[in-house]
Amino acid sequence: MKILITGGSGLVGRQLTKSLQAQNIEVTWLSRTKGVKDGIKSFLWDYKKGYIEEEAFDGVTHIVHLAGAGVFDKRWTKSYKKEIFDSRILTTKLLVEKALKLNGLEAFISGSAIGIYGNSMNSVPLTETALYGNDYLAQVTKEWEAATVPLENSSIRLAIIRTGIVLSEHGGALPAMINPIKAYIGSPLASGEQIISWIHIDDLCRIFSKAITDDAIKGTYNGVAPEPVTNKVLTQTAAAILHKPLVMPNVPSFALNILLGKEKAASVVEGIAVSAEKISATGFTFTYPYIKKALSDLL
Ligand SMILES: NC(=O)c1ccc[n+]([C@@H]2O[C@H](COP(=O)([O-])OP(=O)(O)OC[C@H]3O[C@@H](n4cnc5c(N)ncnc54)[C@H](OP(=O)(O)O)[C@@H]3O)[C@@H](O)[C@H]2O)c1
Repeated sequence: MKILITGGSGLVGRQLTKSLQAQNIEVTWLSRTKGVKDGIKSFLWDYKKGYIEEEAFDGVTHIVHLAGAGVFDKRWTKSYKKEIFDSRILTTKLLVEKALKLNGLEAFISGSAIGIYGNSMNSVPLTETALYGNDYLAQVTKEWEAATVPLENSSIRLAIIRTGIVLSEHGGALPAMINPIKAYIGSPLASGEQIISWIHIDDLCRIFSKAITDDAIKGTYNGVAPEPVTNKVLTQTAAAILHKPLVMPNVPSFALNILLGKEKAASVVEGIAVSAEKISATGFTFTYPYIKKALSDLL
């Protein structure tokens, strides 16, 4: 097996790379910058020019597509929203086009996000057959997945992982939440009742790893832990593990609207409950099914 990961230098990609290497699986990256990073060979691509270094695909049996501009990295200006969109949809289209011409490619594993379901205060966890949302992130994610459709009529196995909020000590949502708690200014966001469908980064990498190595994994799977929690429970659990009191009132919605912009704030204020049933039914077992166990490991 030889795995080519796009966005391999990111939060999930780095950890997935380590976990695959630990299984003696060869990994290379497709990146906007060329060279050897952390001992991993990075091939160059530029989706805006439709360019991918030809050698990038030499001997590749599996592509894992994780690249995309950080959704929460910057304010959602018109141009940044275009970058979030293009860096997922145009990259996928380009990769799929190349993938269909390759010999020896066995599987294409695409990242996706639970944002496809939109936001809702409904606490019944959504399965993979649930209706899609209509907000900006749902539209991006729908198009992201739609760009993989040409693979469905090919011999290349397609698996799509709709990732939830990834909990890692190295980046993403968790440091943003715990740094204020450590500074005694942490508190739940908005009502605190919005559901967070989270996943420990180790479990997510194990899901991607299973999607690579298990030929039975085809189609779409939610990549979330089986126990979604409210924002309040998440915040309180983190504070308890850190032995810090929560002294501040909840951050009001209007402040989040000002801070993040109304459209982006909606995904923080509302959340979404998502089900892990389908991936569990494949025999996958979570090392961190519960939030207390996950946060105790990470904090
Ligand atoms: N982290 C989460 O909580 C979460 C939740 C749901 C879904 N996801 C999705 O899962 C994927 C991986 O997540 P992650 O947290 O590992 O992401 P990340 O840390 O932001 O890394 C993504 C990688 O994508 C590449 N990239 C960044 N901006 C780009 C652009 N404008 N054009 C093309 N490539 C670009 C970069 O690789 P190079 O610099 O090497 O090119 C970067 O390392 C992403 O698509 C993300 O949307 C993540």
